[in-house]
Amino acid sequence: MLKGKKILVGITGGIAAYKIPLLVRLLRKAGAEVKVVMTPAAKDFVTPLTLSTLTGHPVWSDFFNPADGSWHSHVELGLWADLFVIAPVTATTLGKMHHGIADNLLLATYLSARCPVMLAPAMDLDMYKHPSTTNNIKALEQYGNIIIAPGSGELASGLCGEGRMEEPENIFQRIKDFLAFDKMFEGKKVLITAGPTYEPIDPVRFIGNHSSGRMGIEIAKVFANRGAKVTLVLGPTQLSVNHPSIELLPVTTAVEMFEACMALSQTSDIMVMSAAVADYRPLKPSDKKIKKQDENLSLELVKNPDILKTLGRNKKSGQMLVGFALETDNAVENARIKLTTKGADLIVLNSLADEGAGFGHNTNKVSLITAEATEHLPLMPKSEVAAHIADKINRMLLQLQ
Ligand code: PMT
Repeated sequence: MLKGKKILVGITGGIAAYKIPLLVRLLRKAGAEVKVVMTPAAKDFVTPLTLSTLTGHPVWSDFFNPADGSWHSHVELGLWADLFVIAPVTATTLGKMHHGIADNLLLATYLSARCPVMLAPAMDLDMYKHPSTTNNIKALEQYGNIIIAPGSGELASGLCGEGRMEEPENIFQRIKDFLAFDKMFEGKKVLITAGPTYEPIDPVRFIGNHSSGRMGIEIAKVFANRGAKVTLVLGPTQLSVNHPSIELLPVTTAVEMFEACMALSQTSDIMVMSAAVADYRPLKPSDKKIKKQDENLSLELVKNPDILKTLGRNKKSGQMLVGFALETDNAVENARIKLTTKGADLIVLNSLADEGAGFGHNTNKVSLITAEATEHLPLMPKSEVAAHIADKINRMLLQLQ
């Protein structure tokens, strides 16, 4: 199943490093080619000799070969790999990765890698719970890394709790699952909108909404991780995106989002409109701050262009158009109306009536609505919702063939 796959295993200095030879063995038995890069501290926990014997390759750890002074290229390792799996990742390495510190070969390789990166953190429970660690993990996830969350159990300190590296067999399974999908959308160009739009009232005020952009960003990451070239047209958000296969086009207003989408629509194979676009904008935004005067203030609003509907009207054969519907009542009925009036192939419905769904949360509860069927999914992390949407689109594309 992993025949011909090139997997770079990174090991940092935590006690769980002693389990990595088993992971390497599983990967090799499944047909993968494996190379290992380790931090100097990792050598205290597992020997390079063990790993070079299991991989059939030298183990990389230093920038220079002390024997002849030759240079070990971190760029080369990062370019070679189809997947870079770093396990275990210590709290120190997570912090350095988050802040771009490249003071060993493993970190320099991470910073220059173009392939997807999986991280399996491992540390003591209090270190794992510390806000510095949780923030580092959150940031690294936003940069597009795939986190294999640690489990609960007995820790090297003798304490019991969260922080134990996921078992090698489970990491191996995650790698297999990921690589089974990784080329699903190869050669496909995917256009995604995400986040809110801000419609200026004056230089200091705007009409906006609560969208964080997370749902669309997760969808962009799933497509990019599965081989697509993604363009993400993103409204104003606090979240950041950094993925080699995602081109980011930041926009502010609905009109800017519309223009960006129109420019890309003809060359896109799949279009997913998850942005919360303002339906109306102030007709004449003031160029000076509006002063408080009368009891009432009226703003004249004009309709914004409907991006989804315009794309639906001009859809080419073979193109896949996905819209979202954010409803508060009569959800399925309204979403079905959107499916037909907007000319979409699939509507992803989320309802503000469901707890944990919609704006801001890390979770969402959606229904996938096509002309033929409605599929209700349970509440789950937005990253998993994104994977379900990508799977659904893949099944629909296969049916078109
Ligand atoms: O960003 P998060 O905090 O993660 O939250 C995610 C989300 C709740 C924003 C997302 O899941 C979602 O529901 N996005 C669509 C929100 C919305 O505006 O729904 P709507 O029912 O008003 O619009 C229907 C569809 O038309 C959407 O695909 C929308 O992008 C599109 N639209 C709407 C207006 C407009 N002028 N142009 C459009 O293309």
